[in-house]
Amino acid sequence: MEQRSKWGTNLGFLLAAIGSAVGLGNIWRFPYVAYENGGGAFLIPYFVALLTAGIPILMLEFALGHHREASAPKAFRHIDPKWEWLGWWAVLFVLFGISMYYIVIIGWCGNYMLFSLTNAWGDDPNAFFFTKFLQVPFDQAEQAPAGDQVWSLAGFRWPIAIAVSLIWLVNWAIAYGGVEKGIERAVKVMMPILFLITVTIIAWALTLEGAGKGIRHYVTPDFDKITDLKVWIAAYGQIFFSLSLGFGIMIAYSSYLSRNANIFKNSLIVGFSNSFYEVCAGFGVFSILGYMATRQNCDINEVVSDGIGLAFVAYPKAISILPGGRAFGFLFFLLLIIAGISSTISIIEAFTAAVLDKFSLSRKKVITTICVLGFLGSLLFTTNVGLLWLDIVDHFLNQYGLITVGIVEALVVGWLYRTDLLKAHIVANLGLSGTRHKLFNYVVLQLWMYCIRFVTPVALGIAIVHSLIREFATPYAGYPISGVIVLGVGWLLVTHIFAFGLSGLPWREQAEG
Ligand code: ALA
Repeated sequence: MEQRSKWGTNLGFLLAAIGSAVGLGNIWRFPYVAYENGGGAFLIPYFVALLTAGIPILMLEFALGHHREASAPKAFRHIDPKWEWLGWWAVLFVLFGISMYYIVIIGWCGNYMLFSLTNAWGDDPNAFFFTKFLQVPFDQAEQAPAGDQVWSLAGFRWPIAIAVSLIWLVNWAIAYGGVEKGIERAVKVMMPILFLITVTIIAWALTLEGAGKGIRHYVTPDFDKITDLKVWIAAYGQIFFSLSLGFGIMIAYSSYLSRNANIFKNSLIVGFSNSFYEVCAGFGVFSILGYMATRQNCDINEVVSDGIGLAFVAYPKAISILPGGRAFGFLFFLLLIIAGISSTISIIEAFTAAVLDKFSLSRKKVITTICVLGFLGSLLFTTNVGLLWLDIVDHFLNQYGLITVGIVEALVVGWLYRTDLLKAHIVANLGLSGTRHKLFNYVVLQLWMYCIRFVTPVALGIAIVHSLIREFATPYAGYPISGVIVLGVGWLLVTHIFAFGLSGLPWREQAEG
């Protein structure tokens, strides 16, 4: 039987956890979500969400994994065997779902990193991205992908499939080395590079003409927005995805910490570093958009775009006109690749930890098997309709998968677990005594428990009901109902069935009798 892995140092753990949290979600998602939902005023719901759901759930996941020295399925099984499926479901749909298309996006970044060197997109990055690079069915009138063509499969896009195979290979090589010699070593190299590139890009962007105009758009508060429920839902959704909550990752990562690790401090460091990173990333993104608007003599609204549009259409336009744009583009896509890989290795580890906890298997075989399966799954998203499939699967796994795990996790731990044990576990390594100990126990941890029991489930519950109502009103983003059912609902159901199947199998202690 293999020994449970351990981090070499607490710093190694912190870098890995921050690496998991900081990903595409921070760089291309946050700035746009903030801008669309009230700019500077969005920071109010955002920090409320961080303090009432982000850090509490992060601390819950850290405390649970550390206390039980267990991956998600094992930790939930300990609470009650009935809940083992929840842990399996989380690690299953995240690996065989989120990571499969997330790696495809990293693969696009790999291609674009090279394209930056020659401005391969020419004068029309929008047409280049959709019709030449992805070759997705395109609606000429709308100048956007044709969602109704979701089943018009015409073949693989080889440049994407090749990049995807390389990225899975890098993930495999890192994970194969194990927790300390693989992941910890890798993040100790990747994270300093990531921060260095980020600082370079932001500093560069801030000096551009028009940067101030962009930043003003990013931070100018629109206080009317914060009375809108949608803005609050966006804040909770962003915090959840960005902190990798409900992925089973933070449970597995903290299970490898030394026994005297300080869970409270680690939660605050990871939670605030992630938010600090994304708020700063917004300054870089909007400085560039400000520059573009100034150069093109138009309004920011005309150049701003979210996620895919930002990275693969708006940024290439900027790269073409920026002084030193090619180097800038290369660094930007490299940044996305590093941020992405430090997140995907954590997804692979969350699943590996679960399998190794339950079955008597060798780590290396497990890693190789899941990387091969993951790669084959990723190929589904490398066809000409990959973008459409990815969009549907992403919507359903994020809006329903992660949020459901979050709600059930908060309810199960908050109401069924001996929370006094978890609280005592958090306090034990804080080294507090006397009044400070009492204050911490009766105020901070009480507030924490209150968030876990009430605030988080209610906030996430409202978000999910709101999404469901919209879903029934119109199929997501105008896709045909067959696409939504097969790819969206189907993905959730099939992973559920596998989760129940895996939780029904005997544990190695039982199997070994
Ligand atoms: N937390 C990761 C991200 O923000 C998954 O992209």
